[in-house]
Formats: sequence, C-alpha cells, structure tokens
Amino acid sequence: MQNLNDQLGREIDYLRISITDRCNLRCRYCMPAEGVESKNHQEILSYEEILKIVETGMEMGIKKVRITGGEPLVRLGVEDFISHLKKLELEDISMTSNAVLLAGKAKKLKEAGLQRINISLDTLDPEKFKEISRRDNLTEVLKGISAALNVGLDPVKLNVVIMKGINDDELFDFVELSRRKKLSVRFIEYMPLGGEAEAEKFISSSEIKHLIRARFDLLPAVSIGNGPANYFKLQGAEGTIGFISAMSEHFCSSCNRLRLTADGKFKPCLAANQEIKITGMSKKDIKTAYKKALKLKPVCHNLNFENQNYSRNMSQIGG
Ligand code: 5AD
Ligand code: SF4
Repeated sequence: MQNLNDQLGREIDYLRISITDRCNLRCRYCMPAEGVESKNHQEILSYEEILKIVETGMEMGIKKVRITGGEPLVRLGVEDFISHLKKLELEDISMTSNAVLLAGKAKKLKEAGLQRINISLDTLDPEKFKEISRRDNLTEVLKGISAALNVGLDPVKLNVVIMKGINDDELFDFVELSRRKKLSVRFIEYMPLGGEAEAEKFISSSEIKHLIRARFDLLPAVSIGNGPANYFKLQGAEGTIGFISAMSEHFCSSCNRLRLTADGKFKPCLAANQEIKITGMSKKDIKTAYKKALKLKPVCHNLNFENQNYSRNMSQIGG
C-alpha cells in the first residue's frame, strides 16, 4: 500500500467528496438567503467519475472517504453510489448530512455500506432552527437522528456550530443530550466562510469548555474518526463531547485530507481558493492531479474574519 505525502510530510489518506452543491436548508453561516447559484447537471461529476477518482486515489494512498454536499441526501442514487464505494474496500465510508431526509434513507444507507454519519444540528428549538437554517425542518432532523441510531450507524456525531447570542444559551442542553444519548456532540467554532460571517458571533472552544467546566466535570474520552476534534465525556454518559477549533487552535500541521468538489475540482484546503480541475481524465492524469493538489496544500489556512475573499460557500465545498 502506497502513502500519499505532501510537501510537509503530512500523510493524506482521507478524501472528502462533495456529491452535490445543492442543499435543502439555507443556514445563515453557510449561504445567503437566496441560496447560491447551483451548478448545471452537466457540470457535476457523475458517480462513475467519482468512483474512478477514488479508485485511483486508493492506488496512491487514499484509505477513507466522507460523502458531503451541499446536502448529499438530495442527490438521487446516493445509496447505490455508496454500495459501489463499498466494493472498493475502503477502510472507512462516512457522511456529513443535515439529516432532513435521513429518516427515510438511513436503513438503505447502512445496508449499502455507510458506517457512520455526522449530522449538522445547531439548535433543539424549532423556532431557532427556522431562524438559523431559514427552513422549518427540526422535526425531520430529529427523526433522522433517531433513525441513524436505530439502524446502527456508529458513531453518530452532531456538528453544533456555536454562535454568541444565537444558540450559546443551548450549550447545556447539548451537553445533557450527550449524557442521555449515544451521540458524539461536537462544538464547532464558527468560521467566516460564505455566510454572514459576523465576528461578534464567534466563541472559541476554550470559552465553551470553560463554561461547561464551570458546571460539569469533563473526563477525557475518545471517538472514532479522522478528524481534529478532541473529546471528553460526562461521568456515566452514553455519548461524548468534542471540540473542533479550526479558528483558535488550528490543526493544519496534522491535516490528512483533500477535498473533491461536486463540479470536479480538487481543493487542497478548505479555505484556499486554489483548485485543480479533474474532469474527464485518464487514470494517469488523475494521478498527476492528485500530486498537483498535494503540492498546493498550504502550510496552514488563512481563515479570519477580516479576510473574507473566499471563492466558495461551505455548501460548495462540503465542510
Ligand atoms: N462555520 C462553521 N461551521 C460551518 N459549517 C458550515 N458553515 C460553517 C461555518 N461558517 C458546518 C456545518 C456542517 C459542516 C459540514 O460544516 O454545520 O456540519
Ligand atoms: Fe446548512 Fe449544510 Fe445546507 Fe450549508 S450545506 S445550508 S450548512 S445544511
């Protein structure tokens, strides 16, 4: 098995694949109210093309993939696509979803070979859900989370973007949720990527941890995954609590990932505007594109609230 190392010696074994730039929500931190212009269907990579890119990547050292969007469950045939990925014998197939459509699809996804899922959920209050996502779908999302647990997707993680004055009052509700349910609740620092990007809403992970520690003991914990979260748990809890601090304590030196956009471009870094086009290529050229993408991986991202010239919204990258 080969390894794919970048210029800095970071081993890249994890590909995040956005299968659509479309989404059924309009989260304020991700996109403007009118949404972002969707790509034409012809511009979107076919599942066959994606499978070829994954297969080629595996020959070079890719071992794990995550399916993202937009919202991946709005693309038709995603279950079949996962069953084809499964045949490639990857070490790990995961997904990030807003779970609006998950209740009806969880069983099929699990059967197709999806191992685990991360679900975006920033509030447990229906009115606030409407405010944050500009859609009225909390009920569906909660059903989706239950379905994920019921069919045995494991682990089920929640991505909670904490924003001052918006949902920071629900911090302890989410902490309590991690006690009762076998969920990994991850508090994600708000990033200035594509949405409203208001610096005054930012709260660092250390502030959040401080608030939680004032009330609860946080014991060290582990959670399966490829990512940069660090985990804790409450005494006797079913689930865990994680922190993802892309802004305050970036984890660039241990970055293990490459991103593939729905319109067929490698994105070496979430926050960098460089992209490498990878449509309609032979395996040999795909290999060259992987190498080029790795060469362009920056030492670190330049995310900050002053510089907001990012070429894509989160929905167009896949988080
Ligand atoms: N800041 C932090 N997280 C974000 N996400 C989307 N936009 C932002 C942002 N501006 C998160 C979503 C989702 C994941 C893919 O990225 O909540 O869980
Ligand atoms: Fe919200 Fe994710 Fe859709 Fe963006 S892509 S609007 S963060 S659900």
